[in-house]
Amino acid sequence: MTAATARAYPNIALVKYWGKQDAALNLPATGSLSLTLDVFPTTTTVELVDGPEDAFELNGGVATGTPAARVVAFLDLVRERAGSTARARVTSVNAGPTGAGLASSASGFAALAAAASAAYGLPLDAPSLSRLARRGSGSAARSILPGVSVWHAGDDESSYAEPVASPELAMVVATVDGGPKAVSSREAMNRTAATSPYYDGWVTSTRATLDEMVAAAERGDYTRMGELTELSALRMHASIQACDPPVRYLAPASVALFDRVAALRSEGVEAYATADAGPNVVALCRPQDRDAVADALRGSGLAGEVTVAGSGPGVEVTDGRAGAA
Ligand code: ADP
Ligand code: DP6
Ligand code: CO
Repeated sequence: MTAATARAYPNIALVKYWGKQDAALNLPATGSLSLTLDVFPTTTTVELVDGPEDAFELNGGVATGTPAARVVAFLDLVRERAGSTARARVTSVNAGPTGAGLASSASGFAALAAAASAAYGLPLDAPSLSRLARRGSGSAARSILPGVSVWHAGDDESSYAEPVASPELAMVVATVDGGPKAVSSREAMNRTAATSPYYDGWVTSTRATLDEMVAAAERGDYTRMGELTELSALRMHASIQACDPPVRYLAPASVALFDRVAALRSEGVEAYATADAGPNVVALCRPQDRDAVADALRGSGLAGEVTVAGSGPGVEVTDGRAGAA
């Protein structure tokens, strides 16, 4: 029996991915840039089995519905490439919240891409894993890489994540609600593209924001990176809120946390706020400021858990044997 286990960490985008150019290949409308974290890993085991069906267990329970269908579709792609018909038993645990806007689909599909590639004998180089992970969830393309990476828009061959030179960064995760969101990222993204009058402006402006972000990262301009991070998040949420029917991910406490982070700046701690598709807020800061930021966010009374994160590793196969079933 062939089995492999892999671990991957979530990433939080400084320039957000929001919209697809091709849903079947999961190609993004624009590039994006993120920091892979060193907290909330996903650990996934893929075991090839003799049975007629795939099985997916997530966080200790049998997964059904869309989460299971996404994993089976992903395994079908892996099998097609590997020339295998073997079914698999997939067991995965997210150390962080699932479906809450803290990138579980990113760590989840990055870990699955690596574990499945190892188990079915597909290539394990970073570009191959990043392209493959993208098919499971777009943001997963970036969780293959450590630290700061850019995920290129492009075609099936060229759309993968690569490292970007950057100053050292830290993030402080302020959990407002760790429960699953009512509308998944995928559904809200598709609805935004189909119905938000601001979507075109979002796509056009994001191309410019990404160019500016990469340039700021390469010259070590932390301040501009922070400003662009807040801008990208707020522009994304503006375009989401304008879709029909509207989706509003930011809760009152999320907005108050953005204000608290702005107040920290006027107090001399240079932090910037961002939020994915969910109410949880992540503060970007310099590594030496992470404890001051965490203390301030804890002291605000606006967050439940406050978790300090640094730059994390890329995906790793921790155990396993490759080979045909
Ligand atoms: P998030 O903000 O957590 O990324 P999404 O709406 O993008 O939320 O994705 C949540 C979905 O990602 C889950 O419903 C499930 O389908 C998938 N997912 C989350 N964790 C895993 C995992 N460890 N393995 C496979 N799929 C996962
Ligand atoms: C707000 O990668 O979860 O986190 O490709 O449909 O699985 P799918 O979407 P997903 O979207 C992530 C959206 C975001 C921004 C980002 O991570 O860049
Ligand atoms: Co996601």
